[in-house]
Amino acid sequence: MSEELTKVPESKGSHAKRKVFVKTYGCQMNVYDSARMTDALTSDGYEETSDLADADLVLINTCHIREKAAEKVYSQLGRLREMKKSRQERGREFIIGVTGCVAQAEGDEILRREKSVDLVMGPQAYHRLPEALKKVRESGPSVDTDYAIEDKFEHLPAQNRKSVQARGVSAFLTVQEGCDKFCTFCVVPYTRGSEVSRPLAQIMDEARQLVEAGVREITLLGQNVNAWHGADGNGNEAGLGMLLEQLSQIEGLARLRYTTSHPRDMDDGLIAAHATNPKLMPYLHLPVQAGSDRILKAMNRKHTASDYIALIKRIRAANPDLALSGDFIVGFPGETDEDFEETMRLIEEVNYAQAFSFKYSPRPGTPGADMPDHVPEDVKSARLERLQALLIKQQREFAQNCVGREIDLLLEKPGRMEGQLVGRSPWLQSVIIDTKTSKIGDNIKIGDIIRVRITEAGPNSLFAEFAEA
Ligand code: SAH
Ligand code: SF4
Ligand code: F3S
Repeated sequence: MSEELTKVPESKGSHAKRKVFVKTYGCQMNVYDSARMTDALTSDGYEETSDLADADLVLINTCHIREKAAEKVYSQLGRLREMKKSRQERGREFIIGVTGCVAQAEGDEILRREKSVDLVMGPQAYHRLPEALKKVRESGPSVDTDYAIEDKFEHLPAQNRKSVQARGVSAFLTVQEGCDKFCTFCVVPYTRGSEVSRPLAQIMDEARQLVEAGVREITLLGQNVNAWHGADGNGNEAGLGMLLEQLSQIEGLARLRYTTSHPRDMDDGLIAAHATNPKLMPYLHLPVQAGSDRILKAMNRKHTASDYIALIKRIRAANPDLALSGDFIVGFPGETDEDFEETMRLIEEVNYAQAFSFKYSPRPGTPGADMPDHVPEDVKSARLERLQALLIKQQREFAQNCVGREIDLLLEKPGRMEGQLVGRSPWLQSVIIDTKTSKIGDNIKIGDIIRVRITEAGPNSLFAEFAEA
């Protein structure tokens, strides 16, 4: 690599603020991380831009979960390489950074594959981002995939109030990160490191700041969010149910959610919270992946299909109005037609309001990739199609059953058509209300929770009218 290419020329016009463009792939935690990185950079003199052509720094926050997700990064980087070339010809700074789970998994391999990259940074190093950029400017490419011994959250600057406001009334808050479960298909334990819970006081502070900036709904995030544990005010260890209870004391915070949960970590306190905590929304994303005990064992999920069904029964007993969501993988190595039928039977029995489903994608370094009897692609596709048809049918039925019900709607944003407002139902559906035809008060604004009646269920959203209290 030549000197000219490794060293980044300084921006012209030093008084103008450098601009950062962040592109986010993957899960909600990456969305949250992108926000925290952006805020760290804005505290360090950057300005956020949504226009790539305007950027001096581009961060690609990547996902490694399936092959397709990971490969996207390189096609994106190919396009950025061209941009960088033309920028450098004009003597302008253009730094390309790769963050997130591909960065953690592939490290300096990324620099070898794509020479235009200046910075590779894993999720545990984000608090060192401003420092790493300085290093890039001074001495060329930098790779940081160390698992920090220090708590990155203690070192990241607080979320920027203006940015929080711009992001809307519903916010994410990471409370737990990493995973020790090692499901045999999954890269997350390798990309996010081992399971860590953020301390209660730190979470409470961040939640209060979000609410003071106007946030009404907080979704707690973690790869295994329900494994969160920490000391309560009296120094006793407690789980997510306690954390939700503490958060629900924050005045002005209207709604709480959490994702993603593992069936093995649904403890009694958390199940009870679904019965007793009125701010906790009646929605639970509880992935099961498969319905065959043989496959669940091979996946190292450490529970059976009937354990899962029994757990669902307990959760529904706590709150019969709860909507369930799940994740499914079809075509895990060794999955037979009969195994797949068992997944279909489980779905029939549980009845999901929402779900995500994927063809198994072998990931380098995971035990699943080396297992025998990989399922042919066409068989995976056929299974996925049947599975999704069933899940979509259930989702539509769930939506249809909402018609006629009165619900509380959290208004999130203006709709696409004039006069429309879009909000979220307690069950996470998007609900559209027409302020012109519905007698809605003039003083109603984004962030308000209004009482509406569902009038119609469309394929992607529900429609509602204002209901008199
Ligand atoms: N922590 C969560 C899952 C995070 S990954 C949990 O334990 O459930 C999100 C989803 O991606 C998983 O639930 C799984 O359905 C899917 N997934 C993960 N690895 C995959 C792979 N190798 N191929 C296909 N889908 C995968
Ligand atoms: Fe991946 Fe399993 Fe951990 Fe979820 S519990 S993040 S699927 S290893
Ligand atoms: Fe993807 Fe990493 Fe999230 S692999 S799903 S971005 S934890």
